[in-house]
Amino acid sequence: MKVTPEFLNKYNKAVPRYTSYPPATSFSPCFTSKDFIPALIASNDEHPENISIYVHIPFCPQLCHFCGCNTTTFESAAKIRRYIDCVLKEIDTVAEHIDKSRKVTQIHWGGGTPNSINFDYIEEIIEKIKLHFQWSDNPEIAIECSPAYLSMEDIDRLAAIGFNRVSMGIQDFNPEVLKAINRRGPKFPIEQVMERLRKNNFKGINLDLVYGLPLQTLESFKQNIEKVIALSPDRIVTFSYAQVPWVNSNQKKMDETRMAGPEEKLQMLLAGYEIMTHSGYEAIGMDHFAKPTDDLAIAKHSRKLHRNFQGYCTRETTGQVYAFGTSGISQLWGTYAQNLKNLHQYIDAIEATGLAIDRGYSLTKEEIVIREVINELMCNGYLNFEDIAKPLQCTANEIISITNYNPAKLEPFIEDGLVKIVNNNIHVSEDGMFVVRNIAMLFDPNLTSNTSQFSKAV
Ligand SMILES: C[S@@+](CC[C@H](N)C(=O)[O-])C[C@H]1O[C@@H](n2cnc3c(N)ncnc32)[C@H](O)[C@@H]1O
Ligand code: SF4
Repeated sequence: MKVTPEFLNKYNKAVPRYTSYPPATSFSPCFTSKDFIPALIASNDEHPENISIYVHIPFCPQLCHFCGCNTTTFESAAKIRRYIDCVLKEIDTVAEHIDKSRKVTQIHWGGGTPNSINFDYIEEIIEKIKLHFQWSDNPEIAIECSPAYLSMEDIDRLAAIGFNRVSMGIQDFNPEVLKAINRRGPKFPIEQVMERLRKNNFKGINLDLVYGLPLQTLESFKQNIEKVIALSPDRIVTFSYAQVPWVNSNQKKMDETRMAGPEEKLQMLLAGYEIMTHSGYEAIGMDHFAKPTDDLAIAKHSRKLHRNFQGYCTRETTGQVYAFGTSGISQLWGTYAQNLKNLHQYIDAIEATGLAIDRGYSLTKEEIVIREVINELMCNGYLNFEDIAKPLQCTANEIISITNYNPAKLEPFIEDGLVKIVNNNIHVSEDGMFVVRNIAMLFDPNLTSNTSQFSKAV
C-alpha cells in the first residue's frame, strides 16, 4: 500500500461526507407529517420493493462522554413504557399506508442501547412488525448492543426473539480509557460473549472500536486492533472520534490535551487498515472491515454493496427504510423524513397524531440520479453508467448530463493511480477508496464552491 500520511494530507480537503444525498443538513422543517403520508403511499410503487425497518431506542443507563448518538438516560420505567407504546402506535400508523404484498428483508435496532431495556418490550415491537408486515424467507434482524449490559441469557433470548445479527461497541479494551469516557466495561468477558453469539448462530457479528479517545496512543490502538482480531468477529469498524459538542455537551468533559492530534489519528487509521488487511480482513471503504466469507465482502466483490443510515448493507437485502422512534430517518426512493429527536416532543406528537416528523426532503429526479452515482462510487468503487441507467429509468447519456460528468475532471486521480477508466467505466483503486469522497464530489453538480461547512476528507 502506498497510502502515507503525506498522500492523505494532499487530498485532505473539506468535502461532503455523503452519508446520504442530499445530506441530512438539507432536510427542511417545512416537510411535516402531512407530507409524509403521500410519500409513504408513493413508496409502494418505487424501488426497492423490499422493506427495511429501523427501530431507535434512545436509552442508555449511563452516557459515555464521547458519544455522538441521539441518547438519553433512563428517566423512569413509566417513561420507557410510554415510549414503547409510542413506537407501537407509530408502526400502526405507517403500516396503514404500506402495501401488504411487500416484504421485510431487514430490521435494524439502533440507539442508544437497545439491549438495556426490558426484552419483553423488544419482543412486543417485533410482534407488532410481524402483525403488519410480511417477512421475506430469511430477513436480517440486527441489534446494536453494549456489552456492559449483555448477559449470556440475554443472548439466548435475543436469538429466540429472532435476532440473527449483532453489532457491539467495544471502543477500547483499556479500563483507564473507558473510565476517561465514562463507560462501563463488559459485563462478561468478550470471548465468552462471542462464543455464546456463535452458539446461537449469529452471523455478521460486528465489533466497533474508536480512535482519538483520551489516553489512547498509536501503540495502544494497535493493541486494540490485535485484540479485536483475536476475537475473530465477521466485521470490524474503526471509527474516528467525531467531536460534535452541539449533539453531546458531555464531550467537553473529556480532557482534550490527552487526546491524539490529527497527525496521530491519521497514523492510527493507516495502522488499523494495514494490520486488518494483513490479517485476512477485507476493507469495505476505509474504516469498515469484513472477513472474505462475510456478506458485505461478497457483495463488494459482486459490486452490490449499498449503504443507508444504518451502515453498509447488501443490495439484496436493502429495502426502502421505514424508521420508528426518536431521530429515526425514513429513507424512501423519493423522500427522506426524520423524526423529532427530543424524547418528550416525540412522545407528545405520536400520542396526538401517530406520527412525529420533524423535517424531511423530497428528491428531484436529478437528485435521485446523482445519489445513485455517488452511492456506486462510495460503496463499490466502480461506476458503469449503463448498469445503473435501467433501474433509474433513464439513459446513460442522461446520467452523464445530469452529473456534469467529464472524464478530464478525473485526470489528477488517474495520474496518481487512484482511478482507471476502462470502456467508459470508472474503477477506483484500493488506495483511491481513501479519497473516494473527493472523487464522488466531482459528480455532484449541486455542490457550491463554498465547502467550509464540510469536514476534512480523512
Ligand atoms: C449506538 S452505539 C453502539 C451500541 C451501544 N450503545 C454501545 O455503546 O456499545 C453506536 C456506535 O457509534 C460509535 N460512536 C458513537 N459516538 C461516536 C463519536 N463521537 N465518534 C465516533 N464514533 C462514535 C461507537 O463506536 C458506538 O459503538
Ligand atoms: S456509546 Fe453507546 S452506551 Fe455510550 S452513550 Fe453512546 S449509545 Fe449509549
